[in-house]
Amino acid sequence: MSNNNPIGFIDSGVGGLTVVKEALKQLPHEQVLYLGDTARCPYGPRPVEQIKAYTWEMTRFLLNKNIKMLVIACNTATAVVLDEIRNELDIPVVGVIGPGSHAALKCTEKNIIGVIGTETTVNQKAYSQMIQHKSVETEVIELACPKFVPLVESQQANSSIAKKVVAETLRPLLKTGMDTLVLGCTHYPLLKKPIQNIVGSAVTLIDSGAETISEVSFVLDYFDITADKERNHPSHEFYTTGSEELFKSISEEWLTTDQIPVTHVVIDN
Ligand code: SIN
Repeated sequence: MSNNNPIGFIDSGVGGLTVVKEALKQLPHEQVLYLGDTARCPYGPRPVEQIKAYTWEMTRFLLNKNIKMLVIACNTATAVVLDEIRNELDIPVVGVIGPGSHAALKCTEKNIIGVIGTETTVNQKAYSQMIQHKSVETEVIELACPKFVPLVESQQANSSIAKKVVAETLRPLLKTGMDTLVLGCTHYPLLKKPIQNIVGSAVTLIDSGAETISEVSFVLDYFDITADKERNHPSHEFYTTGSEELFKSISEEWLTTDQIPVTHVVIDN
């Protein structure tokens, strides 16, 4: 295994691109291989066993491409199967819930943290357990937002429907006194504007994906597997199980580039 091998990123769809965006910024010498299981997105409403099976299929696909590290850039998959995958693989595996929780704890002054995520992430209580393990006195209020991922995946994040859905969904959080809100789904940063508008500027939004790249950077250093600093413009590869065109259009808009090489793949065989 060479230090110049790629880092693999997996997500149920396009949400993990919010993590990749940060990786391209913070780790410009690293080659990124991204797989979004867009055809089977969303994962949030699916049974836990199915989420496990799908996440393993994505993991095996990228392992066959000789990745040196795996980033589970999906909160739902992290909540359900991070520990299992980490125990099985002999490469480092990073999820998004630990980094998001740590950042929220650093940020809150009132010790009241809101977390929004999919049904599965909320049901698994992954954030409250992680946060309260570090700080028992911190109150964590979790809210499932099942309508958010379909809005992002259908490229409606900037629409008036999105504003309405966000306003209605987040209403239960408004009088909780939270000063920090974790975007506990990697799709949600694409809805950052309407979310911030509704919760108000006194609430700090934590982008769990962006926080994750600081941990990736730390792990690369720790295992001494950082790519050659002289390597410029590594050729990234993006794979989707769904429509290449839709994936390309969302990723080019989000990553603000028009050179995203996207390939459709089948992984469930
Ligand atoms: C989903 O597929 O339902 C959302 C992915 C996530 O939790 O980040």
